[in-house]
Amino acid sequence: MPLLKSIRIGTVTLPGNLALAPMAGVTDLPFRRICRELGADLVCTELVSARGIRFDRSLGRALSLLEIDPDREAPVAIQLFGGDPEDFRYAIDAIRSHPVLDRCDLLDLNMGCPVAKVVRNGDGAALMLDPARAEAVIRVAVEAAGRPVTVKFRLGWDAARRNAADFARMCRDAGASAITVHARTRDQMYAGKADWTLLADVVRAVDIPVFGNGDVRCGEDAVRMIRETGVCGVAVGRAAMGDPWVFRRIRVALGSEAPGAYPPDAHPPEAHSPEGHPGMASAEERAAMMRRHAAETAARLGEARGIREMRAHLGWYLRGSAGASAFRGIAVRVETLSDVEGLVADWLSVQREHGRR
Ligand SMILES: Cc1cc2nc3c(=O)[nH]c(=O)nc-3n(C[C@H](O)[C@H](O)[C@H](O)COP(=O)(O)O)c2cc1C
Repeated sequence: MPLLKSIRIGTVTLPGNLALAPMAGVTDLPFRRICRELGADLVCTELVSARGIRFDRSLGRALSLLEIDPDREAPVAIQLFGGDPEDFRYAIDAIRSHPVLDRCDLLDLNMGCPVAKVVRNGDGAALMLDPARAEAVIRVAVEAAGRPVTVKFRLGWDAARRNAADFARMCRDAGASAITVHARTRDQMYAGKADWTLLADVVRAVDIPVFGNGDVRCGEDAVRMIRETGVCGVAVGRAAMGDPWVFRRIRVALGSEAPGAYPPDAHPPEAHSPEGHPGMASAEERAAMMRRHAAETAARLGEARGIREMRAHLGWYLRGSAGASAFRGIAVRVETLSDVEGLVADWLSVQREHGRR
């Protein structure tokens, strides 16, 4: 039985059960598009403050973070964070009044962000300490959204308060159509090993789809997480940084190469690396991706800002390659598309010298 399967989230059907986890500063529009083409079945915008939208009285500054391309990255979720139901009502109405944003498939509520300046306001993971307020937020969002609402949260606040199963039940009762659980507590931030054991309790607690998240780095991890916990799908975060091909490899491991799941211009899922690992990117593919990613980012943000934002992505693409540290030293200084071209061309010739196609 292939573990790759389509999933229904309320009225929305995902072609498969493999999601890109939202990451602020990483999962912007060009990167989400790339991940979608390489096999992510669901992508999500970076978190945006519901209160910020309300205070600005417009989508204003949030628009660049919220920008979606429903034609080339669907299904796509927009993620909001906050703690005041009225902020969400305002922000969701603003999203619904926008001709493009209104075409997002899902609205995702962040209840897992561990960052101090977020939890200090009672937002993000702090909502796990206040399920009544979390419930009020979800109920308003469900009422306002006009599409399925999903919630992303953690195992709990700390080791002594791992209330993910109860929190999941509350989400379901408040009207959430699916949840994603990052298998760490707020106290753990992003460190230490994700503890998948509690995910099974969450799955048993609710009858809506549960996506498991935390430390899925390869196909084998995805298979193990689904088998060990019963989650219906997995969400992949950091493993996709600089390696969007991870989705291709996970799809292979989950047992499906269904071409129908890919948009027509996608990379073929059966591509093989020189070493013969299904789905590993060759040096040529990595080079082509760096060029494309930089070009799309520059087209979107303008060359100066776009290339600055590309520096981190370039560093991630270079990881583990021959001469990586020297090339990363160059990547942190690129300013123009032509700098990127020079870097990529030099990098590729070094890879060829080292026999890496
Ligand atoms: C740089 C970074 C930014 C993140 N930003 C968000 C975010 O905006 N919204 C969110 O729900 N989670 C965010 N996360 C958490 C990830 O979605 C994910 O839950 C976490 O990284 C664990 O998954 P992983 O082990 O696959 O990376 C972020 C994580 C990282 C590393």
